[in-house]
Amino acid sequence: MRHLMSPLDLTVEELDNILNLANDIELHPEKYAHACEGKKLATLFYEPSTRTRLSHEAAMLNLGGSVLGFSSADSCSASKGESVSDTIRMVSCYADICAMRHPKEGAPMVACRHSSIPVINAGDGGHQHPTQTLTDLLTIRSLKGRLDNLKIGLCGDLKFGRTVHSLIHALVRYTGIEFVLISPEELRLPGYMREDVLEKHNVPYKEVVRMEEALPELDILYMTRVQKERFFNEEDYVRMKDFYILDAKKMELANEDMLVLHPLPRVNEIAVEVDKDPRAAYFKQVQYGVYVRMALILTLLEIDVK
Ligand code: CP
Repeated sequence: MRHLMSPLDLTVEELDNILNLANDIELHPEKYAHACEGKKLATLFYEPSTRTRLSHEAAMLNLGGSVLGFSSADSCSASKGESVSDTIRMVSCYADICAMRHPKEGAPMVACRHSSIPVINAGDGGHQHPTQTLTDLLTIRSLKGRLDNLKIGLCGDLKFGRTVHSLIHALVRYTGIEFVLISPEELRLPGYMREDVLEKHNVPYKEVVRMEEALPELDILYMTRVQKERFFNEEDYVRMKDFYILDAKKMELANEDMLVLHPLPRVNEIAVEVDKDPRAAYFKQVQYGVYVRMALILTLLEIDVK
């Protein structure tokens, strides 16, 4: 039985297979419409979500399966003190696969140790968000035609942004990848990510504070929200929250074929006027998120559609 805790749980070949399957699902959705009939997905969300929960549910429904679950810690027995390990034992009796989001880093890992069904990490604290990474990879590969030889700017909250951490883990395994890390000093990419991941893989990177400095050289700009929920005090969040705002004027500095991605939700970091720029890919990214989660569910359930 396979779980997905981090992009590193998948080899590059397995990642490519999931992306290929997602492309086939996009082209031939009818082929997959009954693939999960009789199967159930449980969504165990101890932290708020719009995209990740609903896209997992849409993915299972598109495959002909059913869904059940909870959307907050307050609406399940965690509020009475039930542990994650006990909860997953229950859910293993109710469902065939589950997606778990939790504010504590490592909680989905605890779950998979006590689970008899595949567990998907749907985001754990500031740690990892592997299904967002699958979404990002599918978006980049579909719109750029490749996952190698790319210069990628990661902008915003690189300290707490779990989507950034997972994306770096996945992309360092492809050739010709370079990163420009764009953040204020307080929200720099953590040392363990720079030293144990980027430097260990000999991936070139530089750190800059001004977005304008990086924009002209990028193939991809990956914007992120300042993660309010991970700050220890409101004052620091207020000081940081509008540090970066991508607007139409700044987009003039970028290449004609640079793509703007964002895992969403967006707050102020991308002005609404950018939405109509053909380089804005963040709403297309949401649709790719459904295809790739369909592919992931089929892969983890070992369902082969001919
Ligand atoms: N991208 C993402 O994780 O969005 P949600 O928090 O809405 O699930």
